[in-house]
Amino acid sequence: MNNHWSEYWQQGHTTSFGEALSGNYDGILKSVWKPIFNGLTENFLVVDVGTGNGSLPLLLRDELLTSELTGKVVGVDLAEVSLASSENQNNHNIDIALMSNTRCEQLPFEANSVDLYISQFGFEYSNVEKSLQEANRVIKSDGQFVIVFHHKRSMILNRNRRILNLIQKKEVNLLIECLVKMANAMGNVNNSKDVDRIKKDSQCESVRTEINQLIKSLVMFDDAAAQDCELMRFVAQFFKNGLFWPVTKKLEFIEFITIQMDTLKLRLTELVDASFDESKLAIFLEKLQLNNMTLNELKILKNDQDEVLAWYLHASKLFS
Ligand SMILES: C[S@@+](CC[C@H](N)C(=O)[O-])C[C@H]1O[C@@H](n2cnc3c(N)ncnc32)[C@H](O)[C@@H]1O
Repeated sequence: MNNHWSEYWQQGHTTSFGEALSGNYDGILKSVWKPIFNGLTENFLVVDVGTGNGSLPLLLRDELLTSELTGKVVGVDLAEVSLASSENQNNHNIDIALMSNTRCEQLPFEANSVDLYISQFGFEYSNVEKSLQEANRVIKSDGQFVIVFHHKRSMILNRNRRILNLIQKKEVNLLIECLVKMANAMGNVNNSKDVDRIKKDSQCESVRTEINQLIKSLVMFDDAAAQDCELMRFVAQFFKNGLFWPVTKKLEFIEFITIQMDTLKLRLTELVDASFDESKLAIFLEKLQLNNMTLNELKILKNDQDEVLAWYLHASKLFS
């Protein structure tokens, strides 16, 4: 499962919200961490699981930028990741290290060594029972366990469920097949004479009509989801920028679209499976207790429009 995430992180995103969120987290998904980060003490070790390109470690460092505190934050992820910032690391009193190919069910840290264990939309993708046992092993007595994780009925899930419903429709595959037919029917287009030729070509015309009908039916099914999944942008790019590309390059681009749609499907299916409703949460809270943790705070995070964004859970490891 980590390959599609590796491919995603290699595109340089800071968070898993991709183009929808330029830069790092803002609003409540940023501010909720402030008191947690400000509670750290000298020479701390923080571990962020499912870190991606290090969005939380970067938030932590920004928050403590003007403080004298020194410490280390290690982000671990099952995928191949790299820090989404080109700043010079050495200018900071907070050291950030990211570890790729590292699962939170098996952490490379000594027992009782971690002051603060954190995650934002990462922990819930793992085998949570095993990850909790591992968290219990590595966190120090009285150390903190703080996670922000997906809520089954959040606006994030609602929006992504709509995208998933759309890209699972047969019209998406038909549209991609039509693009292949179109690329082959057009042949190489080098000048305005070729453009006239394809305009008069009956095969090109009938595929173009078919493409328009498929787009219309997808947009009518869910306009917002059709835009969100970027398929429409890719199709527009194929006809505008790609018109003069050689056939081979057009076919490569269509292959790229296919991969983007397949990985999006995988990511969104995982997202839906990873999210928590109340009953899944109740079982998790029992496991938390069994793993030596005491709950300090559990709440639902909402945005300015009062829409549900995520669960927030803060626990402490009991003295052993
Ligand atoms: C939705 S992304 C969140 C990334 C980041 N925390 C953020 O908010 O931008 C989930 C991440 O969890 C990682 N992941 C999934 N299962 C994991 C596991 N068992 N151990 C560590 N990381 C995992 C994925 O590779 C992916 O990068």
